[in-house]
Amino acid sequence: MKSLEIKNNIYWVGAIDWNVRDFHGYSTYKGTTYNSYLVKDEKIALFDTVKKGHMHDLVHHIKQLMDPTEIDYLIVNHVEMDHSGSLPEIVELIKPEKIFCSKMGLKAINEHFHPEDWPLEAVENGQTISLGSKTVQFLETRMLHWPDSMFSYLQEDKFLISSDAFGQHYASSERFDDEVDFSELMEQTAKYYANILTLYSPLIRKLLAKVREMGLEIDMIAPDHGVIWRSHINDVIHAYDAWSQNKGRRKALVIYDTMWK
Ligand SMILES: [Fe+2]
Ligand SMILES: [Fe+2]
Repeated sequence: MKSLEIKNNIYWVGAIDWNVRDFHGYSTYKGTTYNSYLVKDEKIALFDTVKKGHMHDLVHHIKQLMDPTEIDYLIVNHVEMDHSGSLPEIVELIKPEKIFCSKMGLKAINEHFHPEDWPLEAVENGQTISLGSKTVQFLETRMLHWPDSMFSYLQEDKFLISSDAFGQHYASSERFDDEVDFSELMEQTAKYYANILTLYSPLIRKLLAKVREMGLEIDMIAPDHGVIWRSHINDVIHAYDAWSQNKGRRKALVIYDTMWK
């Protein structure tokens, strides 16, 4: 695979896990991806890393663009191991100037890795940092689906890195929603919502309301699993709106039995 520029100086540099079939009990018959995003500006930032064992793919993709040691900032949107398992090795390799995470992320990083000298900095909800020409705004999304979860929003590019939200366990050599079969994509998105997010539906409703209230303009939603939303943003937001209402749909159930299969 190759790294891919997905928007002005924003690159996908993640890893594709074609073979995973069981994701802590969730059957992933289409595999998955662990997405990382590299943003080139006066400061170079890497958003999220990958599961342990897939670091060679991440580093390979970064090296197609630059020497990994040129990366200045590491942003940890979520500490669960599918996005942070390779964090110790990545920190060792790039020696970042700063590692940004949420307050709960700081706690989770300390509890998981016991780092002695990592340049960790907890950010506030809504806080911004400048990369030069690009501004990153951090949005805490507690319990979506871990206490530490947050989104990173690149304001000038209207580019939302949504961590586990809007993801799909869907491995593909394509990177965008309009390059894969739409019905299959929505089926994987629904399965992901049902397995990972259903429990937090009331929080999803609050988040959607908050995003509307903030008037956040979104050109692309880049989750940490699966393909990036650029043509079907309204479809996936409407789907989340509908699923989070936990409304049943009328269905017919046919029950039958046979001795002869
Ligand atoms: Fe997660
Ligand atoms: Fe994840």
